[in-house]
Amino acid sequence: MENLARDSLKKKKFIIFGGGFSGKFIANEIRKLGGEALTSSRQIQNNSTSFIFDSLSSSLPPKQIFEGATHVLSCIPPDKDGKDPVLSRLYTKLKSLDLEWVGYLSTTGVYGNTFGKWVTEKDPAKPLQDRSKRRLLCERSWLDSNLPIQIFRLPGIYGPGRSTFESIFKKNIKVIHKTNQVFSRIHVADIASAILYLLFKVNDENFKQIINIADNYPTSQVEVIEHSYKLLGLKMPEPINFDDAKKLLSPIALSFWEENRRVSNSLLCKDLGYKLIHKDYKSGLKSCLEIIKQKNLG
Ligand SMILES: NC(=O)c1ccc[n+]([C@@H]2O[C@H](COP(=O)([O-])OP(=O)(O)OC[C@H]3O[C@@H](n4cnc5c(N)ncnc54)[C@H](OP(=O)(O)O)[C@@H]3O)[C@@H](O)[C@H]2O)c1
Repeated sequence: MENLARDSLKKKKFIIFGGGFSGKFIANEIRKLGGEALTSSRQIQNNSTSFIFDSLSSSLPPKQIFEGATHVLSCIPPDKDGKDPVLSRLYTKLKSLDLEWVGYLSTTGVYGNTFGKWVTEKDPAKPLQDRSKRRLLCERSWLDSNLPIQIFRLPGIYGPGRSTFESIFKKNIKVIHKTNQVFSRIHVADIASAILYLLFKVNDENFKQIINIADNYPTSQVEVIEHSYKLLGLKMPEPINFDDAKKLLSPIALSFWEENRRVSNSLLCKDLGYKLIHKDYKSGLKSCLEIIKQKNLG
């Protein structure tokens, strides 16, 4: 990690709720910097760095995992009523700990539809989808929690094992054209790196509680998919027009096409000085493909 020295997280213990795609990646980066990181899962995992947490079950994580915890990060989405799964089950426990920092992964869906305009943290949240309304409720619960909270608003997350390549290989990719429609995205390595970079700025005078983490280049799905095919040396199928594609999409997939926004990273990258690892999808996809090739060789 360019900006942070080895061992810079020594003696720090992170409890990460939601050891999914981002949670696991962030935990690994913390370990590389000398920190300890435990991740939760709803099912028993056979390793010493994982613990069980399911907000819908009656059992809570074992007490010993909280011993010496300095940092907490939640990567778990809201429950169906808009309650935060971690706060609703573990708020008292978290309050009893001497935490230096608490992070929460949110989404840029809270901004709603900006009809392709750039959106910054200063713009009001105007969620359109019910899931984004629930997300905003969770953000507010964290802000009201009196914990040392920092919220990261994320657009579409991709990275090794979760990119257009996997969809192409699985033959479940849909190439859809919708005029003027763009999506913002972020490589998971930049989520981890930006969060850890910001950790060392929590005491700065320009500390910000809500920060977008997005790359520099929102663009259409077709452009990204076309580039992926090109990197694989394959020809992209003809795009389907959005109106024709509607009937092929699930309600949840369709809902993503109802919003069109360009997420600004100006606060993170200009004001706070973070340098993106992957400034755009081309850089991010190149790195994903290198990992796929290495795995195929191994
Ligand atoms: N994917 C995106 O493009 C995107 C974009 C913006 C924001 N986000 C948000 O960013 C966060 C991280 O995203 P991600 O894609 O890395 O997540 P992910 O891979 O889907 O992982 C979600 C994690 O939450 C855990 N979880 C879900 N419901 C739970 C419950 N009721 N009790 C306990 N644990 C529960 C899952 O447990 P198991 O491991 O047991 O399944 C999993 O570890 C999420 O809040 C997501 O909604 C995602």
